[in-house]
Amino acid sequence: MLAVGGAVLGSLQFGYNTGVINAPQKVIEDFYNRTWLYRYEEPISPATLTTLWSLSVAIFSVGGMIGSFSVGLFVNRFGRRNSMLMSNILAFVSALLMGFSKMAFSFEMLILGRFIIGLYSGLTTGFVPMYVGEVSPTALRGALGTFHQLGIVLGILIAQVFGLDLIMGNDSLWPLLLGFIFVPALLQCIILPFAPESPRFLLINRNEENKAKSVLKKLRGTTDVSSDLQEMKEESRQMMREKKVTIMELFRSPMYRQPILIAIVLQLSQQLSGINAVFYYSTSIFEKSGVEQPVYATIGSGVVNTAFTVVSLFVVERAGRRTLHLIGLAGMAGCAVLMTVALALLVSVELRGQGEEEEGLVLFEEQMPWMSYLSIVAIFGFVAFFEIGPGPIPWFIVAELFSQGPRPAAFAVAGLSNWTSNFIVGMGFQYIAQLCGSYVFIIFTVLLVLFFIFTYFKVPETKGRTFDEIASGFRQGGGGQSDKTPDEFHSLGADSQV
Ligand code: GLC
Repeated sequence: MLAVGGAVLGSLQFGYNTGVINAPQKVIEDFYNRTWLYRYEEPISPATLTTLWSLSVAIFSVGGMIGSFSVGLFVNRFGRRNSMLMSNILAFVSALLMGFSKMAFSFEMLILGRFIIGLYSGLTTGFVPMYVGEVSPTALRGALGTFHQLGIVLGILIAQVFGLDLIMGNDSLWPLLLGFIFVPALLQCIILPFAPESPRFLLINRNEENKAKSVLKKLRGTTDVSSDLQEMKEESRQMMREKKVTIMELFRSPMYRQPILIAIVLQLSQQLSGINAVFYYSTSIFEKSGVEQPVYATIGSGVVNTAFTVVSLFVVERAGRRTLHLIGLAGMAGCAVLMTVALALLVSVELRGQGEEEEGLVLFEEQMPWMSYLSIVAIFGFVAFFEIGPGPIPWFIVAELFSQGPRPAAFAVAGLSNWTSNFIVGMGFQYIAQLCGSYVFIIFTVLLVLFFIFTYFKVPETKGRTFDEIASGFRQGGGGQSDKTPDEFHSLGADSQV
């Protein structure tokens, strides 16, 4: 718990910075305006303000793309734990830049700070699932893997609450709201030195068997760790036979082509499901559908988000990754249809309301609350189904689909796919929403159905199987499917050599 807890403070940091710019948009824009006036003695134009704000929001994902793609530069050289520790330098620098930007009358500092914390978050999305996957016993790998997502959603929720006007989302305290990232960074620096290095890294990359053994004893809480060690050695032997795996190799070698395709599509399914359209723009979506207190509905979505991540935590080792991912995608598609119905009805009632004066207005007022409830149910359901599968699973399944050799390269590719599609939704959603009006969620419905079909035909179940078993499933060209069901693996003892 110490190892996983220390690591997922990084996930919390990532979530916090995802959610933090939603609520205080207006007050920070005011600051941009004042700064502009002070410097150039004229008010900022609306177009420049929009550009500057979009840049402040989206540059985070640009940092994320670069960071996630650089994971491989660190993990094999410094180890997993030390890489996580070191990356906090970025968080401290970013906290200082953003926290003092108001005092320095510099929006450039804020934007640079967002970029740097984006770098940190990108690195985190590689470091944390890799580390957690490597320290976890097979039977708990999914549940502990879900803690990365739990850290993210808690971070989002904390940011949503702190961002309320009466807490820190106001004109005087917003620098503190952004600079708050100092706290998790400091906590991580205190906790991580007590957490062990990944035993797989010690044994397979460093060949330090004794150290690996003592770490395993600590992690498992038993003295007999021979089966774990055995499994790692087998993986190590396999790795000796493989050449060093570069990113290009992942696409060229027939052995990795299928798992890398699965890893990429699962990342795309997470982001192109449209989830961040909700987390970046929920307040304005709720506003449009007539919800009276949109900020509280946004916080409500954060609460549902957290609650269902906890549900996933408890069922992921029972129901399996594949099943939960399928259920999540299907449920999200259903909710996206519901959302479209709510928005379309609203528009039609509004139109009628305009057309038929009195009578229409009464109809409008009668139906409005009903439809705003429908939109709340649809969005909450959308978020809940997301956290059942598409939220947590893509993050940790990458560690499961690859053995030690190709793992860092696979994380780089998967991370880049995730952050790039995150960027596309973050930047594009408002434009597409303007273009498609109330039908914008139909696009996500179509994509969700396509991802469902892909998952159904291509994604193997990884629950209860050791890394080596999963990899050999792909080597045999069986799409990673094994001849034993996951339950048979369980009954044979999750960590044993089958
Ligand atoms: C996942 C996504 C992230 C999203 C979050 C919402 O972690 O990667 O982009 O904001 O879920 O809970």
